[in-house]
Amino acid sequence: MHHFAYRGNELYAEDAAIKDIAAHIGTPVYIYSAATLRRHFRVFDEALSGADHLICYAMKALSNLSILKLFGAMGSGFDIVSAGELMRCLRAGAEAKKIVFSGVGKSEEEIAAALDAGILMFNVESRPELYRIAEVARRKKVKAPVSLRVNPDLDPGTHPHISTGHRTSKFGIPLAQVFEYYAQARSLPELELVGLSTHIGSQITETGPFIEAGEKVASIVRQLKSDGIALRYLDIGGGLGIPYLEEPPPPSEYAAAILKPLKGLGVKIIAEPGRVLVGNAGILVTRVLYVKETDVKRFIVVDGAMNDLIRPVLYEAYHAIWPVRKESGRKPVIADVVGPVCESGDFFAQDREMPDPQAGELLAVMSAGAYGFVMASNYNSRARAPEVLVEGSRVHVIRERDRFEDLINREKLVELGS
Ligand code: LLP
Repeated sequence: MHHFAYRGNELYAEDAAIKDIAAHIGTPVYIYSAATLRRHFRVFDEALSGADHLICYAMKALSNLSILKLFGAMGSGFDIVSAGELMRCLRAGAEAKKIVFSGVGKSEEEIAAALDAGILMFNVESRPELYRIAEVARRKKVKAPVSLRVNPDLDPGTHPHISTGHRTSKFGIPLAQVFEYYAQARSLPELELVGLSTHIGSQITETGPFIEAGEKVASIVRQLKSDGIALRYLDIGGGLGIPYLEEPPPPSEYAAAILKPLKGLGVKIIAEPGRVLVGNAGILVTRVLYVKETDVKRFIVVDGAMNDLIRPVLYEAYHAIWPVRKESGRKPVIADVVGPVCESGDFFAQDREMPDPQAGELLAVMSAGAYGFVMASNYNSRARAPEVLVEGSRVHVIRERDRFEDLINREKLVELGS
């Protein structure tokens, strides 16, 4: 459910007409709906209400300060993967004791910054990382709270680039070594062993893989308990998909499935949803520049491009494309929607049936809230699009469009010898 809908023939974000936002702010532009973000958080939170739990929003999905503040105000914690994300969520008012630090490559500086901030826990992914964290903690004369991320070795049935739970992936500790790791971690006095975590992949559209992961981690937690290691937290990661094309289970069904094997463990459940909270709460609005016809294809050339939204070419991802104004009586055509970037991979849709878009019209690329703006780049020296947050009829620009000066800001024009 989201709050992008037609009133008559015009597409609105809540009570704001998209065409007005585009007229004032220009295109391409990312538009988010605050009511949708809040609703998604509430629904997910309620789905987990049967268990003692904490949501740590995976902020990599969409990390604008205002979005982080919105979730923080609803009680959310944050799942971070870099010092940059740590700074960002602290700047947005996050409580350090609700931050978990994931990722396979935390640097010494990042570990130090997280210890200084006093985060809830590090999700550790390898032996050398475990020792590195202990070493930094020793130097700082503090105890580092750690959780070990387990790779449950299963197939989450998603695109290979966003699948993390198979044993051939770089993520997590192999199942066979988990107890050895805990024993080792226990012997390091600088570490406080507080949890176990897992994350099997993203855009998962069935409950089976979550149940399988839940059963595997539950049996580890039980075994650890009988070995005298009583954990406080079980971090179940993120990964629940959204309906780009397929229909994933709703949060209630997901939560029921994953919580069932975790019953009676006596741990607090941490969840790291990203996409499911923000994906359908954002759209990318772009204007048609030209309609180009060749003898084999029709190309709708728009002013947004792969530098704004790279998901279609990177993951073969499907994003619905809606006209911002519905025109009656148009015959559907089959077309590619492409951007101005000099790459054949620069498309939002290929061979898509659409109601014959015309030059000058606005199109909305739907479900672009997650992994949209955050993966944008300045490729082809294109300015990154602005981000707008709509709340009722109020329209807040939460990030301005890059200016040309931003593009060259850190560059130096040096004097070279001839
Ligand atoms: N926790 C960890 C440790 C993660 O690595 C991720 C996502 C999440 C939670 C959140 O997963 P979600 O609930 O959003 O599925 N750029 C790709 C997705 C990459 C996901 C990376 N990790 C895409 O556009 O599909």
